[in-house]
Parts: sequence; structure tokens; C-alpha cells
Amino acid sequence: MSNERDAREDPRLRVALAGLTLRNPVLTASGTCGYGPEYDEAIDYRRLGAFTTKSVTLEPRPGNEPARIVEVRAGLLNAIGLANVGLEGFLAEKLPFIERMPTTVFVNVAGHRIDDYVAVAAALDPHECIAGLELNVSCPNVADGLTFGTDAGLLGQLVSEVRAAVRRAKLIVKLSPNVTDITALARAAIANGADVISLVNTYVGMAIDVRSWRPLLANRTGGLSGPAIKPMALFAVHRVYREVAREAGVPLIGMGGVTTAQDAIEFMLAGATAVAVGTALFVDPTTPLKIAGGLSAYLDERGLGSVSDLVGQLKIE
Ligand SMILES: Cc1cc2nc3c(=O)[nH]c(=O)nc-3n(C[C@H](O)[C@H](O)[C@H](O)COP(=O)(O)O)c2cc1C
Repeated sequence: MSNERDAREDPRLRVALAGLTLRNPVLTASGTCGYGPEYDEAIDYRRLGAFTTKSVTLEPRPGNEPARIVEVRAGLLNAIGLANVGLEGFLAEKLPFIERMPTTVFVNVAGHRIDDYVAVAAALDPHECIAGLELNVSCPNVADGLTFGTDAGLLGQLVSEVRAAVRRAKLIVKLSPNVTDITALARAAIANGADVISLVNTYVGMAIDVRSWRPLLANRTGGLSGPAIKPMALFAVHRVYREVAREAGVPLIGMGGVTTAQDAIEFMLAGATAVAVGTALFVDPTTPLKIAGGLSAYLDERGLGSVSDLVGQLKIE
């Protein structure tokens, strides 16, 4: 598959996502590309399907102590700890750049209380340059210590309260894979008003230094991402699509190790309407653009009129 093609003008790559039209189905994943300015030199945003920001919380957060990131075989372990500028800092310092970004922008929202998510979502919703709000639910709730995204009841409550505060922006709920049955969480999110489901966030893991006998991450554990998780992420998309999302008519954004056009095609065949690229940006920030070019070449090869013709077409009779 050629990665050389310029995907900018290929109308076959346009996808509809919950009433939005994306230029192509390749997005950036939250937390791997800052708020936009950081990658302005490296990525031609006019050629991106959509840009997703780092998580924004109500208050600024310094994040965890270093080491916060460790390279492991075929992936990364990170324990950044939601380091971010906070809502006020985001509105003052980051939003002006986002207003000028020539692509669809999703802002990722995180919190440790339902009220915090609601406050951030309600403050961001009126800004028309933000097409969608993506809820990062892989955070513990201070009220009971449960992670929002691992308890269907708590997730349902969170999504319902945020939904009531969000009138304009699309509501994307980003699922954690650290659960026994991810379809139960997808069901809870959809029943309470999610417009789109994105999946997956990182898998909990750890790495140990055999010289010091200590964990390599100061936080002890971290989130595993990159090619190491791709087969598991693909399976999660496949299950959520077939068991919940297809029937509900809710589109999926698939992610977890997407590095090549072939990866993107696999996720789309499994049921994703779009894919997001995270860890691969650290190797080559232009990966999403190359993937879009590879999708165009694949459509040529297969004689397909639209990339949407791939969605959910996995043959499993
Ligand atoms: C360094 C790093 C920071 C991340 N920060 C966030 C974040 O702030 N919010 C979030 O929802 N996901 C965050 N993620 C998860 C990614 O958005 C993505 O779901 C995950 O890494 C799987 O995709 P990938 O294998 O392409 O990286 C982060 C991932 C990495 C590697």
C-alpha cells in the first residue's frame, strides 16, 4: 500500500460520524499530541480527519512524578497522571489556537467527581470550534474510589449528568478496556446519551528494573499502549460493534496500536467508523496522514467507492 498519496482531496475518505462529516477517518488520540500548537509544524492539520486534545480537568494538574513514561517491547507504558492546564488555562491559552485549526476538533474531558466533568463540559459546550467532547472515564471517582469506566452504574450516572449539560457538542464516551465485559459499559454509555463511543484507552501494566528491583514508573503501574495492545483493542471494537453499537446505530472510534493503513482497515472491518492514532505519533507524527493515503490506495486496489464501505464488513459466517 502506498503511503505517498496526498489524501487531502479524496472524497471517498469522507465519513459521517454522528452528524459530523470528517475529511477522512483518521484522528489523533488524546494525550499524544497536546492541544494543537505542539504538532503544528509536524502535522498538516488540513489532512487530518480530526484532532483530539489532551484531557482537560477542572483544576490544573502537575501530573505524576517522573519517570512517567517507559518504552516496553512493542509499546509504551505511561503514568502521566492527567498533567494539564485546567479549564481556565485551556480557555485562555489553548482555545484561541483551536479556533484557527483547519480540522474537526474534539476536546477530551477528565475528572475525579461527576460535578467536575459536568462543569468542564458545560463550559466548553458553547464554543463552536469544539465539535465534540470526549469523556476520559479511566479516572477514579473520589467519592468511592471506583474508576468511572469500570462500573456500569457509575458510568451511566456520569454520562447522563454530562449529557444534560451538553446541548451542542457531540458527546463521545471513551471506554476503558480494564473490565471483564466492555459491552456492559458501552451499553450504559449509549443508554445514557453517548453519541459516539471511542475505544480503547490504555491497558494497566507495569515494568520492573532488574538492577534496582523497583518499578520503572514512579507511579508503579501505567497504561500500556501501542502495537502491543492492537489485537486486544481490535477484539474490544469487534465485540462492542456486534453486541451493542451496530443495533443502537452509534458509531465507534477505534484505537489501540493503530500504526499503518492495514491496522486502520482491520479496525474498520471490525466496526469502527474512524480510528485514532496515539503512540505511533511518537515515532512519526505524520502517521495519520500516511494512513489516510494508504486508505485511498486500498480503495483503488479494491475498487471501492467509499471508505465507509468497510465499516463492520468482517465476514464471520
Ligand atoms: C503518553 C500518553 C498520554 C495519554 N493521555 C491520555 C489522556 O490524557 N486522555 C485520554 O483519554 N487518553 C490518553 N491516552 C490514551 C490514548 O489516547 C489512547 O487511547 C491509547 O494510547 C491507545 O492508542 P495508541 O495505542 O494508538 O496509543 C494517552 C496515551 C499515551 C501513550
